[in-house]
Amino acid sequence: MGNKPYVYITRKIPEKMIQRLREVAEVGMWEHEDIPVPRQVLLQEVEKAQGLFVMLSDKIDAEVINRGTKLKVVANFAVGYDNIDIETATKRGIAVSNTPDILRDTTADLTFSLVLMTGRRLIEASDCVRTGKWTSWAPFFMAGTDIHHKTIGIVGMGNIGTAVAKRAQGFDMKVLYYNRNRKLDVEERLNVEYRPFDELIQESDYVVCLTPLNESTRHLFNKQVFKNMKNSAFFINASRGAVVVEEDLLWALKEGEIAGAGLDVFTVEPVNPNHPLLALPNVVALPHIGSASYETREAMGIRCCENIELVLTGKKPINLVNKEIYS
Ligand code: DGY
Repeated sequence: MGNKPYVYITRKIPEKMIQRLREVAEVGMWEHEDIPVPRQVLLQEVEKAQGLFVMLSDKIDAEVINRGTKLKVVANFAVGYDNIDIETATKRGIAVSNTPDILRDTTADLTFSLVLMTGRRLIEASDCVRTGKWTSWAPFFMAGTDIHHKTIGIVGMGNIGTAVAKRAQGFDMKVLYYNRNRKLDVEERLNVEYRPFDELIQESDYVVCLTPLNESTRHLFNKQVFKNMKNSAFFINASRGAVVVEEDLLWALKEGEIAGAGLDVFTVEPVNPNHPLLALPNVVALPHIGSASYETREAMGIRCCENIELVLTGKKPINLVNKEIYS
């Protein structure tokens, strides 16, 4: 290793994303795109590293952070950062960055797709075509629920929530939202209405969860919440699996407490293919692909490298999570 600081990237990513970073840093990278870096390798690499470029599936806990005695920055290839022990990083003066603005529209597109897929039963309908179950045109064959003029309730009105609201308005939906802090500017700009959480749950035809995962949102969606939803309503989750008690969701779907669910995220990922939720026809399941377009993933990678480069050259990263460390 030369005089340049060392940065470790926990998945194989295309060279063009790293080119600029190589000018200021020595870059090491885990050799596989589709296999997570083993814990032992991560623990060894962090000992040398001033910068870490990590995936949302890497657990960057106190053990990893404290092994990184030279560590200055952890750049998360995601907007959500529940995989990182922010408190420990902050105590150690380590900057944590994420990729919020860059993935906003791509994730909103996917989230709204889940609304369309669940309401209009698109996966079930497509499977019918492929498996020869499309035997005749029939008045109610594969009939679903309308999207237009229904009520969507967005839980978590950040960047992505706002972008989902815009899409919903294109479908003439009524848009409600719940957020820890009321967003008066968004209400005015987009003509969306605030509701307390319990009211939003009762009024919405599509309940869309986009909250970050933290101690106040863990298991937010439980039996009681599903009971309070309309029997005809759909639950969409593009946040993190752990905001839901999965057994309670399963119960709600089986008992007809709600009409269906669209899930891009699960408590344990990759989800076990034998998970009982996956056996239900009214569940649309996706493999955590909210931000997965080529354009956005490339932009996210470049942004992670920029954030690292900025910290390593003594500047503030563009997307700083733990703002306290520069105050
Ligand atoms: C993220 O980046 O945190 C989201 O899960 C996008 O899919």
